[in-house]
Amino acid sequence: MKGNYTNLNMYSGINTSGNGTGKMSLGKSIKMYLTIFILTTCIYMALYQYHISREPFAAGEVVKPPLYIITPTYRRPEQLAELTRLGYTLKHVVNLLWLVIEDANKTNPLVGHVLDRIGVPYEYMVAPMPEKYKQTKRAKPRGVSNRNRGLEYLRQHATEGVLYFADDDNTYDISIFEQMRYISKVAMWPVGLVTKTGVSSPIIKDGKLVGFYDGWIGGRKYPVDMAGFAVSVKFLKERPNAQMPFKPGYEEDGFLRSLAPLDSTEIEFLADECRDILTWHTQTKKNAPAQALNRTHYKSTNLEHIDKLLVRP
Ligand code: UGA
Ligand code: MN
Repeated sequence: MKGNYTNLNMYSGINTSGNGTGKMSLGKSIKMYLTIFILTTCIYMALYQYHISREPFAAGEVVKPPLYIITPTYRRPEQLAELTRLGYTLKHVVNLLWLVIEDANKTNPLVGHVLDRIGVPYEYMVAPMPEKYKQTKRAKPRGVSNRNRGLEYLRQHATEGVLYFADDDNTYDISIFEQMRYISKVAMWPVGLVTKTGVSSPIIKDGKLVGFYDGWIGGRKYPVDMAGFAVSVKFLKERPNAQMPFKPGYEEDGFLRSLAPLDSTEIEFLADECRDILTWHTQTKKNAPAQALNRTHYKSTNLEHIDKLLVRP
């Protein structure tokens, strides 16, 4: 009997006397359940920590397909202002590479500084307009060599995602970027402030493309603005000869035609099936080149510094 009491005391830690056997079992099971509870909680927490540590991004976030934004730009007084405005729009968009391509023979450190300051991932390249087009008195193929340089970059470096031609002077609602990210071939949508119609848009009836609305059709198969379409990188790479022609007014049409075969039923219509306007063909007033600074008169002032930040043609 004595031995029994000693054993019970040893296991339960409860000082027992008389009919203490039941009390001791209760204490024992409480301790057991507590131990199981604490152990389970610890194991769960450890597993959760491990799971989190394996995730490249915050829990619940998935990697979105990349966006390649091809922006032609050229030297002029408004250049840094335009790139600043566009850059801060793009800063709201994740997994994006901004391909800034200047119509020039060499890069401009001022542009590089602005791009660095904005902080959007970018590549800054040059692609000059061929001399014969530069000399012409007629309309020039603006931004074409730049965009073709962008396409060449994508053929070399990109495997998935979507490309979009974003001129440096337009206005973009960031929701269009999230919509274009998931397209399978080509997508189109309306662009505001284009021609006398005030908007250029595919015409959709019963969910189908029935034509295009634009103040200038000009015999084009795809009378759309540069800001009104996006193309999947995979689809582009399946068409190794696709490029933009040096043909003023027909750049968009020529490029989209070069993506053949492309059936109109394969085109996706974004911006609420073209019932909304998310991009605008805004145009900035041209500014005269800044006059030369009188360096003697303003010697040793801040003007010596800001004068170096002015882009003169
Ligand atoms: C319109 C279209 O929106 C353009 O996409 C199209 O290229 C152009 O017409 C055309 O057909 O020539 P628009 O506003 O008239 O554009 O032209 P800009 O904004 O002056 O130029 C379009 C893009 O090319 C801009 O990103 C601009 O920075 C660039 N660009 C312009 C050059 O790279 N070099 C130039 O000499 C002029
Ligand atoms: Mn423009």
